[in-house]
Amino acid sequence: MSEADPQNIPAHVAIVMDGNGRWAQQRGLSRQEGHRKGVEALRQIVRDAGAEGIGHLTVFSFSTQNWGRPKLEVNFLMSLLQRYIESDLAELHSEGVRVRILGRRTGLSDKICQLIDRAETLTADNTNMYLQIAFNYGAREEIADAASRLARRAAAGTLDAAAITPEILDAEMLTGGMPDPDLIIRTSGEYRLSNFLLWQSAYTEFYFTDTLWPDFDREALKSAIDFYAKRDRRFGMLSAQASEAD
Ligand code: IPE
Ligand code: MG
Repeated sequence: MSEADPQNIPAHVAIVMDGNGRWAQQRGLSRQEGHRKGVEALRQIVRDAGAEGIGHLTVFSFSTQNWGRPKLEVNFLMSLLQRYIESDLAELHSEGVRVRILGRRTGLSDKICQLIDRAETLTADNTNMYLQIAFNYGAREEIADAASRLARRAAAGTLDAAAITPEILDAEMLTGGMPDPDLIIRTSGEYRLSNFLLWQSAYTEFYFTDTLWPDFDREALKSAIDFYAKRDRRFGMLSAQASEAD
């Protein structure tokens, strides 16, 4: 740990947005209300993150494992993504945000796939901020898919299997070309990664807060950024070496 350095803003923040259900339960509301509030929090945090100078924001919105929830809740979460893109795409685009959806398309409706394509194509050239929404995403699935693609290239003779490096695998990830997350935030007092960005988080700093996702606001984001600013990241080296390598 060192002193907080106000210049030390994480370039890439990733968030496990957890606690919508508990937020609703505490208020005697339905889980759906919690998810709806969660989308409002997301909408605001995208703006706040931009204002705080965060270039890349990745949010975990629906995991491969979330298919195991009751069908009604799954359908509601699907419709929320759909409505989020429909209602916010124009604003995101006008703010110069590049939107990407990370995850498998399998199981998603044609309508959602079309919306994802529209969002990604429309915003493809934007560079003010990069927003990744992990939806139908699982890190082990991502790694398995990457391995499978490389195996096929090796079998076809276009890749030397003995020469596969971390860099080659990295480029095959859904996040290929993006910086690794500097900071992963998880809300709602859970201390686990839940199959999120396993490959990319080798040197990520972790910040856990009891705040439930619908209550996560700019102040909460600032606390996470302050926490990050005090970290001494060494990447396996000694302090001085790591700052030279920066
Ligand atoms: C996070 O809130 C949203 C998703 C995982 C889709 P939860 O729905 O997990 O909320 P809790 O954990 O039940 O409070
Ligand atoms: Mg949860």
